[in-house]
Amino acid sequence: MSQRTLVLLKPDAVRRGLVGEILGRIEAKAGWTLGALELRTLERDTLEQHYAEHVGKPFYEPLVEFMSSGPVVALVVEGERVVEGVRRLTGPTDPIAAEPGSIRGDFGTITRENLIHASDSEESAERELKIFFPGLA
Ligand code: CMP
Repeated sequence: MSQRTLVLLKPDAVRRGLVGEILGRIEAKAGWTLGALELRTLERDTLEQHYAEHVGKPFYEPLVEFMSSGPVVALVVEGERVVEGVRRLTGPTDPIAAEPGSIRGDFGTITRENLIHASDSEESAERELKIFFPGLA
């Protein structure tokens, strides 16, 4: 089933020069395509919408600070079972718990600075795509 999902390469990934490496892993999956791609510094308002479910949690303020500390790469990935598929490539939130071979497992150590965001369901993807790419059909 063809789907689309929102991916953010977080400021740590951009600062560390890992954009090519991470994009390469996504692009290499058979049949997946990039629907949009943009380097962008995020406003607080955008992050408040994106992380609405985390407002008030202890990690929320440092997260917003981090996510606006430098540009991110925002992209739309389209293709067969891409929501589950990108999450599998990404690995779980805590990079130390993430399997080697996953993006977080290979490159991350810090829970906040875990390199990449990927929508966790088709419903989340549609909600998040409206925030980051409102012009998309
Ligand atoms: P992600 O799963 O993409 O979206 C929520 C983000 O909040 C998560 O990645 C981390 O960047 C951050 N986060 C979640 N839990 C914690 C935590 N316990 N401590 C610090 N940051 C967190």
